[in-house]
Amino acid sequence: MGREGLDPTSARCPDGRPGALPLTPARSEGSNLQINIVGPGNMGRAIAARALTGGHSVCLVHPDADRGRAAAAELKQRFPDGETGSATAAQAADMTVLALPYDATLEVAGSARATLAGQVVVDICNPVDFATMDSRVTPADTSAAEQIQQIVGTDAKVVKAFNTTFAGLLTTGEGHGFPLDVLIAGDDSAAKAKVAELISSGAMRPLDVGRLPRARELEALGFLLISVQQPLELNWQSAIKILP
Ligand SMILES: NC(=O)c1ccc[n+]([C@@H]2O[C@H](COP(=O)([O-])OP(=O)(O)OC[C@H]3O[C@@H](n4cnc5c(N)ncnc54)[C@H](OP(=O)(O)O)[C@@H]3O)[C@@H](O)[C@H]2O)c1
Repeated sequence: MGREGLDPTSARCPDGRPGALPLTPARSEGSNLQINIVGPGNMGRAIAARALTGGHSVCLVHPDADRGRAAAAELKQRFPDGETGSATAAQAADMTVLALPYDATLEVAGSARATLAGQVVVDICNPVDFATMDSRVTPADTSAAEQIQQIVGTDAKVVKAFNTTFAGLLTTGEGHGFPLDVLIAGDDSAAKAKVAELISSGAMRPLDVGRLPRARELEALGFLLISVQQPLELNWQSAIKILP
């Protein structure tokens, strides 16, 4: 069993029919990613929970040391055997997840550029105008992920992921009896493989949807999913699932 309540290798529909494609956790024996999670908010803590489920080490980053420590302590209670730490800035690591609002994501990508060199940088943001809810805030011919790649330079490999999964379901990695599908886009195959490993070891299904510019469609999809929550009374408990 990959985690409480759901065996990802035999997911079934609530009525007992076979559910999603069988999943084989892709984590190779002994593989342990060191992962910074910048922004210990709803998404940062949910991704940290998935990473700890997969046996990876997480460092929760917030400029206020107490905030990072508090989030790490909360996770330690849930995952007593997991390696959990905190810091006030991103550290040397295999991967840094920028679990931040769009503006802060761009800002931190710039200020941490030297540390991020050589790392996989995961952009999860939905660059939506949350005041009006009527548009995205990126220029029309790009995406937040491509902007971040420009900022961090070619020594860091940006992967878009998790922007179409809501924090509530991500905490457990499943929704309505199915492992979550996590759509990822990026230009570097090795970087995408590491993100896929984080996802599948956390008992979810990674789906590679293409190169980094595909983040434009992922961000549009994220915007659509956000915008239908209230009118369709989905209460942030919905997920994108690609069948089979
Ligand atoms: N919530 C979702 O279901 C969901 C789903 C998909 C994608 N996303 C995307 O995920 C990102 C995070 O969303 P969220 O819901 O997790 O937001 P959140 O709960 O507000 O968390 C954001 C975290 O970032 C921290 N932060 C802000 N500026 C920072 C900085 N410069 N350095 C370090 N930490 C900083 C915040 O700390 P303070 O409290 O001190 O500001 C907070 O802990 C957003 O881009 C969102 O679009 C969210």
